[in-house]
Amino acid sequence: MVNEEEMIVTPWEVRGKIDYEKLIREFGTQPLTDELMERMKKDFGDLHLQLRRRLFFSHRDFDLILDRFEKGQGFVLYTGRGPSGPVHIGHLVPWIFTKYLQEKFHTNLYFQMTDDEKFVIEDEMALDETTRWGYENALDLIALGFKPENTNIIFDVKDIGHLYDLALKVAKKVTYSTAKAVFGFQDSTNIGWIFWPAIQAVPCFIHAKLTGENVPVLIPAAIDQDPYWRITRDVAQKLGYHKPAQIHCRFVPGLGKGGKMSASEPETCIFTTDTPEQVKRKIWNAFTGGKPTVKEQRKTGGDPYICTVFQYFLYLFEEDDEKIAQLDEDCRTGGVVCGDCKALLTERVNRFLKDHQKKREDARKDVQKFYLKA
Ligand code: TYM
Repeated sequence: MVNEEEMIVTPWEVRGKIDYEKLIREFGTQPLTDELMERMKKDFGDLHLQLRRRLFFSHRDFDLILDRFEKGQGFVLYTGRGPSGPVHIGHLVPWIFTKYLQEKFHTNLYFQMTDDEKFVIEDEMALDETTRWGYENALDLIALGFKPENTNIIFDVKDIGHLYDLALKVAKKVTYSTAKAVFGFQDSTNIGWIFWPAIQAVPCFIHAKLTGENVPVLIPAAIDQDPYWRITRDVAQKLGYHKPAQIHCRFVPGLGKGGKMSASEPETCIFTTDTPEQVKRKIWNAFTGGKPTVKEQRKTGGDPYICTVFQYFLYLFEEDDEKIAQLDEDCRTGGVVCGDCKALLTERVNRFLKDHQKKREDARKDVQKFYLKA
């Protein structure tokens, strides 16, 4: 029987209390050290909120990417989405960060929309459904302000002709026993799913294939995607390419008690297409670090670090470090109570979504400009 608190982090399941230090050890990644932060500050002139607040916490070979940047050598960015429904605010985190890196690094982005993955993995989803979600989810990416000239969205099913030769080359170098050890495949796993990791590896090498410029990729994503890069890193050099580098973020929590924001729990999840009323209701029901009564909270204070509402200010909706420190203190000393924070967060989220939803609709006419340039 699985212990409720047992930590499980795979590309398909994230459960239990997440110990990020332990993940660094178990996955064999490197911590994002103060030294690397200082280097970025020097290279970029500022540090994104997601770096300052340590939402990004781990990496593989990010130092080598900074070396290349400092020497004026090339590299490209790669990230993606498994389109099985609407995008939530957690998904936006690595994309917002990718946009920041793209602006700092002035480089191309390859974004993989994996309608094939979601079709083989999700029992109930039809292929035309995942493909349709792919185009819908692309609107969220474009709404964040990416530019068509240096952004390539790969829609797997549409673009498979550009991917298949590389996928075969990767697949031939990965044994079933390695794939089983990394991903936990069972006898009952369908063979589409077993081949799938070869396809997620392809965009690590697609820039080299399409342009002849053999440069590494840097992949910003949450740490759940790391197992893919373990196998990709093993085969990269055998195929004559660079190992892909990564920078990993933590999971934005859901609005319930514990766990990451996940579309499988829609009431604890803020989707980019939610209405102001839905946002208000979800935030109003959020798990906080508050006390049972306002009177008690005014007297003894709350705990911002177990509070989901506080995490949203920290990771996404309060840019000003002084205001975050003040909110932290006010919460601990009973200067603010949960109703105040919930009302403020609702206002911030709805302001963000109003703007995002408009840009999302405007993006409908532009999707084709973001197609893979091949
Ligand atoms: P998917 O659709 O599960 O997730 C898309 C991106 O969102 C990240 N993510 C989160 N980040 C912060 N907080 C959360 N609560 C949260 N939930 C998800 C994921 O780590 C991911 O970066 N197989 C992939 C699609 C893919 C991909 C890639 C992702 C293909 N190539 C390269 C990243 C990089 C998937 O199903 O992602």
